[in-house]
Amino acid sequence: MDNIDMKQIQWFPGHMAKTCRLITANLKLVDAVAEVVDARIPLSSRNPEMDRLTNGKPRIVLLNKCDLADEKITKKWIEYFSGIGVTAIAVDCKSGRGMKNFIPTVKNKVLKELIQKRERNGMAGAVTRLMIVGIPNVGKSSVINCLAGSKRAKAEDRPGVTRTKQWVKLDNNVELLDMPGVLWPKFDDQSVAVRLAFTGAVSDDVLDIETLAMKLLVFMKENYPQSLTERYKITYDDGEGGYDLLLKIGRKRGMMISGGEVNTERASITVIDEFRSAKLGRITLEIPKEVEKCQE
Ligand code: G4P
Repeated sequence: MDNIDMKQIQWFPGHMAKTCRLITANLKLVDAVAEVVDARIPLSSRNPEMDRLTNGKPRIVLLNKCDLADEKITKKWIEYFSGIGVTAIAVDCKSGRGMKNFIPTVKNKVLKELIQKRERNGMAGAVTRLMIVGIPNVGKSSVINCLAGSKRAKAEDRPGVTRTKQWVKLDNNVELLDMPGVLWPKFDDQSVAVRLAFTGAVSDDVLDIETLAMKLLVFMKENYPQSLTERYKITYDDGEGGYDLLLKIGRKRGMMISGGEVNTERASITVIDEFRSAKLGRITLEIPKEVEKCQE
């Protein structure tokens, strides 16, 4: 789906309230809530209201796009969620990795007690229903398609495009309730907006591309220095900041403008594109309990 347009954020109060009301009103129809997040930014790609909205319903978090995320840190996130009583699994829609764990995890872990209770009451064949939610661009439609094995979720779920809720049938008597409406992330936090911009979840006008690239380079230098030096064949010392790195990368790639200066805009686009396509490696921007690491 389209990335989030910052101009649409002006709709936030009314639009968001409507989505929240829909979620609350439909919660009684489901046994659990499946929340899709981006494995590279598991906290920033969540809706801040989700804990409150789900109102104690059992939950499963799908750490999607795990093909782009740092595997070691994805494991830490699974532990983190487990520590707060939420089951999380890593999935990847590109290869389908982890998808086969979804239904067994829901039935044998997230809803274990409910399923056992139903079995005791002679309702072993009852349908298990889950609501699926996620902020734009985390891959909610892709996840539904992957789980359902069809293209049925390829719907227009942009703000302003009316769409009704739909049930999607999966194997083993499981149904997913795909809610219309858009959930926003926590935009009032600038560092969240920056991380969403790194991943391409928000349109690139949230920050100018050079500022974004410089912030990403500083993060890379501090957290994934080897990826940076290997990809761009550059060396640098501790005192060098994002702009110095950008100049070095631009020079190395021959991105010059007349007068011998580096075309920093082109270099920035390259850095951001290469991060998003994982050419810089599998990188996670948020670490459990250390989320401040990649702020600013
Ligand atoms: P949404 O419903 O949550 O808004 O997300 P959607 O499924 O439309 O996915 C948003 C983008 O993320 C798509 O890319 C999609 O291909 C990509 N994506 C979804 N899941 C995964 C995943 O597990 N791994 C990777 N690497 N990418 C994923 P796009 O560029 O918008 O479209 P396209 O590449 O499919 O043409």
